[in-house]
Amino acid sequence: MNKKTAELLNAQVNKELYSAYLYLGISKFFSRQNLPGFASWYKVQAEEEQEHAMKIYDYLLDEGEDVELSEIAAVKFIPKDALEAVKEADRHEHYITAEIEKIMDAAVKAKDYRTQLFLNWFITEQAEEEKNSGDMCAKVEILGNSAKDLWHLDRELSSRK
Ligand SMILES: [Fe+2]
Ligand SMILES: [Fe+2]
Repeated sequence: MNKKTAELLNAQVNKELYSAYLYLGISKFFSRQNLPGFASWYKVQAEEEQEHAMKIYDYLLDEGEDVELSEIAAVKFIPKDALEAVKEADRHEHYITAEIEKIMDAAVKAKDYRTQLFLNWFITEQAEEEKNSGDMCAKVEILGNSAKDLWHLDRELSSRK
């Protein structure tokens, strides 16, 4: 694999693990707000991000590349309310989309067709992630910020497995 593409994929393993960590922070915030449905939804989201990291990890190893397990950054984000929490998740997903697209650019430039095929899954996934995070922002914007405002939505979110 081309060096630049391998480096970017390697960095993405870390970014996906950081995403899991960020979502765990958001889940913790909602737990403390007495919104267990939101807390559980973001905890499932954190698990999904770990799966994304493992997908890239496995791909690198399958391709005969090394994987550097670098430090995962601390979560500095402390939401002041529910809307800020869901907006941060949405902002983060847009950032991740841009990062995936950078790796795709490198793979295209290197004529690395296999990695392009591998990344197609992530391109599709990011469209879904942005849709979900955007919908969540819209709902919280409409309903309001308090545990009372979000009560019904919280019950609904608890069904995500
Ligand atoms: Fe992800
Ligand atoms: Fe994501």
